[in-house]
Amino acid sequence: MRISLTVNGLAEDAEVEPRLLLVHFLRDRLGLTGTNVGCDSTSCGACTVLLDGESVKSCTVLAVQADGSEVTTIEGISTDGELNPLQAAFQKHHGLQCGYCTPGMVMAATSLLRENPNPTEEQVRVGLEGNLCRCTGYQGIVDAVLETAAGGAR
Ligand code: FES
Ligand code: FES
Repeated sequence: MRISLTVNGLAEDAEVEPRLLLVHFLRDRLGLTGTNVGCDSTSCGACTVLLDGESVKSCTVLAVQADGSEVTTIEGISTDGELNPLQAAFQKHHGLQCGYCTPGMVMAATSLLRENPNPTEEQVRVGLEGNLCRCTGYQGIVDAVLETAAGGAR
């Protein structure tokens, strides 16, 4: 099937098999390997991207379902190689260790902050419960999101 979509602001046209998952389209066809695959079964959130502004687990979305949509991956949220405020806050608060969950965590947090710019700690924890981290214990991640909501890492 032929699909046309926008990925990180760039128009993309491609012929894809109907069974191709969005995460594999992003990684293997477009080379956007910042989006990770941790489980392939909708459990870990490492594959989280924004689809028309809302976070989705791209291992659960077919590439053909993104036809006509706008996709944003971790590669699309920084400008000129500079970390955006949320990414900088993750760095500041040690919200990552191995980094495998981090792109998905940042994309999920981006979506969360768009929906709720002033979340409580509990709302952050609930909002990110679909994203698993094996390393950090989550506190640094939560602190990073809360600081970003309060005005960004400085
Ligand atoms: S790889 Fe998609 S949720 Fe784990
Ligand atoms: S930083 Fe290693 S899984 Fe989250």
